[in-house]
Amino acid sequence: MKDILLQIKDVHVDYGGVRALDGVSVAIDEGEIVALMGPNGAGKSTILKAIFGLAPLSHGSIFWHDQKVAPISYEMVERGISFVPQGRRVFANLTVLENLEIAGVVVRDKDLLKERITEVFSIFPALHDKRYTKSGLLSGGQQQMLALARGLMTDPKVLLLDEPSLGLAPKIVKEVFANIKAINDRHKTAILIVEHNIKSLMEIVHRGYVLDKGKIIIHGSTHDLLTSEILKKVFVGALE
Ligand SMILES: Nc1ncnc2c1ncn2[C@@H]1O[C@H](COP(=O)(O)OP(=O)(O)O)[C@@H](O)[C@H]1O
Ligand SMILES: [Mg+2]
Repeated sequence: MKDILLQIKDVHVDYGGVRALDGVSVAIDEGEIVALMGPNGAGKSTILKAIFGLAPLSHGSIFWHDQKVAPISYEMVERGISFVPQGRRVFANLTVLENLEIAGVVVRDKDLLKERITEVFSIFPALHDKRYTKSGLLSGGQQQMLALARGLMTDPKVLLLDEPSLGLAPKIVKEVFANIKAINDRHKTAILIVEHNIKSLMEIVHRGYVLDKGKIIIHGSTHDLLTSEILKKVFVGALE
């Protein structure tokens, strides 16, 4: 049987009386970029949070290499999962370099930490130029690059990305997508990405899932999704 990198099976999440996820199963394998799409409130962010131990599972399981695991953030980080939440979270009063050092605290070996920082700067040269700048002074696009760079400090096998292009100018959005593709090309990092920018998203992902009201309504290859009527209905106008 094939060993799958990360799976969630029949996951239910309830927030008080609100059922955010209602029996959701998602899998992602090494090297894949997989999209999570759907209207606002569909449960996309909750999937990422559930994997990372930040949403309460009322039913269902998470599997890492086909082994059932408890979703606990620091254990997920140790396994090789990195979560870049929505909203470009960086420490505004700290420099770019300090932000990266903090994101790399789990890398205990000093030389390895330096290596990680060098590698991350090679992916994001603009951040190297600003390494002594306080992150709060960066542009929105640069802050998003820094959030992505922080997510890479642990050299993850899976990157969970929530709306990386939100609120960025079209030119910067292009750059962010190119960076995401480069991250996947470089180390075959698996990427599970939530995005509303369906058109750009479809250019980089291999497969995707469409959610509505806490349920997956369709999943398949990029080609299958692009030719499906459901996707057109859910995202009227988004594919033109
Ligand atoms: N912390 C929370 N407390 C209560 N309800 C929540 C919370 N987080 C999300 N929800 C609800 O769960 C549903 C799914 O939310 P979310 O996963 O954020 O959707 P999406 O990311 O697809 O926009 C929504 O109805 C939302 O209002
Ligand atoms: Mg969301």
